[in-house]
Amino acid sequence: MRHTGLFITFEGIDGAGKSSHIVTLAEAFRAQGHTVTLTREPGGTPLAETLRGILLNEAMDPLTETLLMFAARRDHLCQVIEPALAQGHVVLCDRFTDATFAYQGYGRGFDLTVLKTLEQWVQHTAAMDGAIRQPDLTLWFDVPAAVAAARLSQARVPDKFEAMPEAFFARVAQGYAQRCQEMPHRFVRLDGTQPMEAVWRQALQACVERGFLAEQMA
Ligand code: TMP
Repeated sequence: MRHTGLFITFEGIDGAGKSSHIVTLAEAFRAQGHTVTLTREPGGTPLAETLRGILLNEAMDPLTETLLMFAARRDHLCQVIEPALAQGHVVLCDRFTDATFAYQGYGRGFDLTVLKTLEQWVQHTAAMDGAIRQPDLTLWFDVPAAVAAARLSQARVPDKFEAMPEAFFARVAQGYAQRCQEMPHRFVRLDGTQPMEAVWRQALQACVERGFLAEQMA
C-alpha cells in the first residue's frame, strides 16, 4: 500500500468516452488492495457541485467561468483531494486543471497567462513543500472533434458545453495536445477512436508501466 497516495486524472473532449474507464480503473485498484476516492470536476464537494450546476447551465463571460471553475477546484482540493492523498488513497478524478486550459483557454480563448497564475494560486498546498499539486498521471482520451460530435448527437439532452459547435471542440482538443506536449512526464495519450476494450488496455498499461498497478491485472 502506498503511503503518499496517487492522483490520476482523466481528460478529453466531451464524447471522448472516458467515463466508463474511470469506474473500471477504480475496480482494478480496489482489487489490488487500494482505497480509491472517485471524484470529478467541476464538483466533488457540496459547494463545488452547486457551482457545477451553475457552470453547466448558465451563460457567463470567460473570466467569470474560469474563476468559478477554480473556486470549485480549490474547495475540492482542500476538502477531498488533499485529505485523501494524505491518507494514501488513489484519487481518480474525472477532469482537473487541464480541462480549464483546454475549455476556457483554448476553447473560449481566455488568457493562458492568467490561467497559469490561477493554477499556481489554487494548487498551492502545504503538502507539496513549495511545489503545486499536479496529477501523478493524466490519461488523455484523444478523439477527433468530429467523432466526439457524432457520439454526442446520440446522447441525452446536451449541457452548455456539450451543445458547443464542433469547431469549439477542435480547439479544446488542440488545448489538450498542447498541455500533453508541455508536460509529457505525466500525460499519456490514449487513442479514443479504438474499440472500448483496446482503450481500456491502453489505460491499464499506463498504470502498470508506472508501477501503480501490478502486472497481473494486464
Ligand atoms: P463532464 O461532463 O465530463 O463531467 O464535464 C463537465 C463539463 O465541464 C465538460 O463539458 C467540460 C467542462 N469543464 C470546463 O469547461 N472547464 C473545467 O475546468 C472543467 C473541470 C470542466
